Amino acid sequence: MRFVVATHNRKKLEELSRILSALDIEAVTGDQIGVVLSEPDETGVTFEENARIKAESACRETGLPAVADDSGLMVDALDGAPGVHSARYAGTGTSDADRNVKLLNALKDTPKERRTAKFVSVICCVFPDGDVVTARGECPGRIAYAPRGEDGFGYDPLFIVDGGLPGAGKTFAELTGEEKDAVSHRGNALRVFSARLREKLNR
Ligand code: IMP
Repeated sequence: MRFVVATHNRKKLEELSRILSALDIEAVTGDQIGVVLSEPDETGVTFEENARIKAESACRETGLPAVADDSGLMVDALDGAPGVHSARYAGTGTSDADRNVKLLNALKDTPKERRTAKFVSVICCVFPDGDVVTARGECPGRIAYAPRGEDGFGYDPLFIVDGGLPGAGKTFAELTGEEKDAVSHRGNALRVFSARLREKLNR
């Protein structure tokens, strides 16, 4: 069985391929099957809506079950921003560093106890018969006063893992890939997704 994965991000493709291969599913990209997947506008106001928009589009264009994900950072003191706009929080053509500067500025007068936040990841699989499997994962934490750590990407250097979780007190960028996967929003979503897919496919 083949599933198309609607992403250009190599790391996401690797993670999803690992999960799918455990269920005897081959993960392919549009390129690998000679289809140029369009990049639909992410017009949804939730991660669920945007993941589904991307998966539905890839399913329609390939005729294969299609998997897509959407993720971002929600900061309580900013009413959930940057949220679904996380990738373009500082405008188009800007870098991770620009987005981190913008976030620190937005929180410059916010004290430690109000710097709470969470990362969210939603994975959605749409089947040609219209069936849909969705999974959401979250990771609670708070926003640091300055970037810390060398690993990871995006907002990782500013996101401090909540007390009580493995890696508590460190930023995502101070964790190894494996340590991050064990607590991260994406790791949590992938674990739920894998269980739901296994159930649907009876594997
Ligand atoms: P998308 O899911 O590819 O649309 O990406 C959403 C954006 O959220 C990314 O560009 C990052 O800025 C941010 N983001 C999502 N997951 C992570 C993460 O694990 N670490 C840091 N930033 C993340």
